[in-house]
Amino acid sequence: MKHFLTLSDFSKEEILEMLNLAFKIKQETKAWIFKDYMKKKTLGMIFEKSSTRTRVSFETGIYQLGWQWIFLSSNDTHLGRWEPLKDTSRVLSTMVDMVMIRTFWQERLEEFAKYSNTPVINWLSDEFHPVQIMADYMTIIEQNKQDNLVIAYIWDGNNIAHSWLNLASKIGFELRIATPKWYEVNKTIFENAIKASKISWAKIIIDNDPEKILKWATVVTTDTWISMGQEDEKEKRLKDFKWFIVDGKLMKLSAKNSIFLHCLPAYRGYEVSENVLEWAQSVVWQEAENRLHIQKWIMVWLQNNKDKI
Ligand code: CP
Ligand code: NVA
Repeated sequence: MKHFLTLSDFSKEEILEMLNLAFKIKQETKAWIFKDYMKKKTLGMIFEKSSTRTRVSFETGIYQLGWQWIFLSSNDTHLGRWEPLKDTSRVLSTMVDMVMIRTFWQERLEEFAKYSNTPVINWLSDEFHPVQIMADYMTIIEQNKQDNLVIAYIWDGNNIAHSWLNLASKIGFELRIATPKWYEVNKTIFENAIKASKISWAKIIIDNDPEKILKWATVVTTDTWISMGQEDEKEKRLKDFKWFIVDGKLMKLSAKNSIFLHCLPAYRGYEVSENVLEWAQSVVWQEAENRLHIQKWIMVWLQNNKDKI
């Protein structure tokens, strides 16, 4: 049975299949056609961190699919009172048909999945944010940028950067990442991406100079200036990321018709300037909407995969 914990667990064909079906479901949604792809299914949603987009897009998507959901914040369940995760997993997976988890540690997702009889989706961990990057790639295809794609990611070597590494190494496009020194991507995730790139022909470049990686980039992207859980590092990060803000001057170095993506929430004047975010080539609102469409199909895909077993 497949879980959705990182993009590296999927083949290129599986990723593209999910995306193709997401375009179909988007068209249906726009035409106000809602098929009960899976009736009488229940999803458990565990949140150990806050969310706006992920929660709303999943809850809306689940409703549109004819399923229902149970919101489980760790404060209101025994997870917040140290009930072992493996026990919660075994109990929940006898009662619900799928579980989504937003947490700090990827290991928690992996442990939950190990004991679960039902698919588990990563809603974001400190290491990965796979559903976000699927929505980003869907937006890139809609913008017709998938050929000769060169993505420049400028910011922290974090969950967003890691999921870009996973996707690039599977699909086979060029990914350039610029982070300040000491904020580089995880070495093992990087090495695994390089290994996978030998098959996909992806080109991956890591640097500490944002200007250097922008040349000919067709997609420019960044991340929220301070990730959840790093609030104590605000002062230090303000200094360390000073030269990494994506502003009009940096954007000018990218390809002529480049687009700008941002997973949001955005903090104007910190990681991105107001004019870049509101710029005509910024597609961040389309990107946010695509969370709804791709995630619907990820859920149906996982359920179909489970039913085949
Ligand atoms: N981009 C994203 O995951 O947003 P939320 O934290 O609001 O869910
Ligand atoms: N890197 C950010 C992504 C927010 C969607 C965080 O983990 O908070």
